[in-house]
Amino acid sequence: MPHKDFTHQPLLCVEVLTDEPTVCQAAASLASELGLKLLSDLSHVDCRFILGVDGSGLSLKDLTQPNVKPLVFSSLKTRPRHRGIDLLARAIGSKNHSIIDATAGFGHDSFHMLSLGKHVVSIERSPIVAAMLADSARRLISSRFATSMQLVCADSKKWLTQNLSSEVIYLDPMFPDRESRSALARKEDRMLRALVGNDSDAISLFSIARAVALRRVVVKRPAWAEPLEANPSMSYQGRTVRYDVYVTRT
Ligand SMILES: C[S@@+](CC[C@H](N)C(=O)[O-])C[C@H]1O[C@@H](n2cnc3c(N)ncnc32)[C@H](O)[C@@H]1O
Repeated sequence: MPHKDFTHQPLLCVEVLTDEPTVCQAAASLASELGLKLLSDLSHVDCRFILGVDGSGLSLKDLTQPNVKPLVFSSLKTRPRHRGIDLLARAIGSKNHSIIDATAGFGHDSFHMLSLGKHVVSIERSPIVAAMLADSARRLISSRFATSMQLVCADSKKWLTQNLSSEVIYLDPMFPDRESRSALARKEDRMLRALVGNDSDAISLFSIARAVALRRVVVKRPAWAEPLEANPSMSYQGRTVRYDVYVTRT
């Protein structure tokens, strides 16, 4: 694909990657639901990201990275834990069972919490990221876990004030910009930032979460960054990330 300046192009189109009629129909509904243009081939492409639809589900391709494979969540990768210790599990607390993941993204942490036997409500406000998350959940969650996860596409600032709360509210807003400039920023993180921006309202979300969480708010931060709010009740420090815990009620 020739190099193209995407600055003034729409962000995303949906492309059907097969001529299977049921998939074409599903792709057309998805495009209409997300308000995106439906393409049948890449010859007239005028956007930066392509949400591909084929018989197995969704993929996300960044056309500014022609040599990088599209993002597909077809297997669960276990994230490395600091010296084998599961810091997220510790931060949540073994006695807490209900969790709202208010910044679900592509769902790695939600799936991790689900694998710990927790009940998880995963909220993501970007409809495109939420569509990828729903696709991952469909591919990855065995029927054993299916009833323990609820997916919501909404802004958590509003949702948290209108719905029943949970023991733990988990927040992982986009890391501050320094991380994004790192050459090591993963393809997935780069794509996510290009799609959703910097989550500059993270502090407002934190204040709401702290007011409604039944037991604690857990915030994931880069290891080098200040806490989102000063004086967490405790922190679990890893090599690259830290989980700050704010106890709301004991
Ligand atoms: C760093 S990502 C989360 C990654 C996720 N923890 C994972 O393991 O894949 C942050 C996500 O939170 C979402 N987000 C930020 N603020 C939100 C809000 N107020 N309501 C819903 N989603 C929000 C962003 O759209 C973005 O997709």
